[in-house]
Amino acid sequence: MSYILSIDQGTTSSRAIVFDSSGRACGQAQKEFRQHFPHDGWVEHDAMEIWNDTLALCQQALRNARVEARQLAAIGITNQRETTVLWDRRTGDPLAKAIVWQDRRTASACQSLRDAGHEDMVRNKTGLLLDPYFSATKLAWLLDNVPGARPRAESGELAFGTIDCWLLWQLTRGKVHATDATNASRTLLFNIHEQVWDTALLELFDIPAAVLPEVRDSAGEFGSTCPELLGAAVPVAGIAGDQQAALVGQACFQPGMVKSTYGTGCFMVMNTGEAVESHNRLLTTVGYRLNGKTTYALEGSIFVAGAAIQWLRDGLNLIRDASETEALARRAGSAGGVYLVPAFTGLGAPWWDPHARGALLGLTRDTGIAEVVTAGLEAVCYQSRDLLDAMAADCGTRPTTLRVDGGMVVNNWLSQTLADVLGVCVDRPMVTETTALGAAYLAGLGVGLYDSLDAVAEQWRCEREFTPLLEEGERQRRYQGWREAVARVCQSPA
Ligand code: G3P
Repeated sequence: MSYILSIDQGTTSSRAIVFDSSGRACGQAQKEFRQHFPHDGWVEHDAMEIWNDTLALCQQALRNARVEARQLAAIGITNQRETTVLWDRRTGDPLAKAIVWQDRRTASACQSLRDAGHEDMVRNKTGLLLDPYFSATKLAWLLDNVPGARPRAESGELAFGTIDCWLLWQLTRGKVHATDATNASRTLLFNIHEQVWDTALLELFDIPAAVLPEVRDSAGEFGSTCPELLGAAVPVAGIAGDQQAALVGQACFQPGMVKSTYGTGCFMVMNTGEAVESHNRLLTTVGYRLNGKTTYALEGSIFVAGAAIQWLRDGLNLIRDASETEALARRAGSAGGVYLVPAFTGLGAPWWDPHARGALLGLTRDTGIAEVVTAGLEAVCYQSRDLLDAMAADCGTRPTTLRVDGGMVVNNWLSQTLADVLGVCVDRPMVTETTALGAAYLAGLGVGLYDSLDAVAEQWRCEREFTPLLEEGERQRRYQGWREAVARVCQSPA
């Protein structure tokens, strides 16, 4: 039996899972790590803490699975995307804390570039928007604000990478400075059509080419781990950003297939095959790149999904545990005209309004905890509908099925309501660790454990399908209420 070790380095926790070649998880380990909020809107991580945790978790997961490193066919890495690390090539030490994707410190830099009329060029080349979400302005900030960083970067002493690249550097003890095309496609520096770091973008963001990693396929050779770390040299053979890895883990390999991951936020990604330009403010991004062939995707990101439930729990103390939401929603049946717009940090796709703030609307004297909690769950469904409608408009066809994963979808009421609000079937897979599984599949493809995407797709199993039950008129009426609620808080309705 061959095994694959999958590293899933997320925004709030790191994880390592050992899978066998049939995609069964044999052992895992997980750890939350520190979030640093030095100023309003700033979010930082300690890249060294992330690396030390990751290594310990890999060792722990192997012990838990009773698998030795020499039994591993490969390692796959998947990661929180966009988060920016800058380190010294000689010592391997980060120059500063990593700037996390959520960090808004470069909002005004992005605004200035937009005001100067650069957004169209950036969008055409990268498929992204000029938003602080992505890496380029974060990296420029580090170069300009860490004393001495810029000249050192220009002379080739420093390396930039997203978290995959940082972990690969550490796993190979500095031998490999590389990333994959999905992670590169989130930096604002990578031309997704030509698949190269783009000179005009490097100039625009003032980034010296000497800091950049090599960009490789998502499956293939990324070097081997230093033997002392895990007890054997293991090839790293798959890398993808977490949402793209989930696309692979959900086996969405045909154009038109779409998955949605419900964690802190929600990320809906549709395989489009070729690059599709969005006219509805979605992102065009790399889904995966295999054997030199790029498969593109459309992505919609919602910043607050599970985080709204956390707020109901920790901010309002309406519930003690997220698992209580299902019973409360069943009791209420629906939110009864109450809408929670969880725009705590602005609204993401398709609205992209950083100034919007949250609202609770439609309260009456008989509104209680159950209705407010239900409105929190429904908000996740309505936001998903915003994204699916935008995707359908961009592609000209509406998908008939959505594959879902992430912590929230264990809630059967939520999964059913998603089907009702979207008017499409919602399929929940047997393995809901799709992000880690996707990285394992890529690594398996990289070492030839799977010979094709078809072999991977054969392993996907549906645990439960939720079909829409709501009558069409009612579906539209409820969604119309959501649109009106959004219009109350958002300055730029799409
Ligand atoms: O783009 C950010 C995304 O990759 C973060 O995902 O699951 O770590 O919150 P997650």
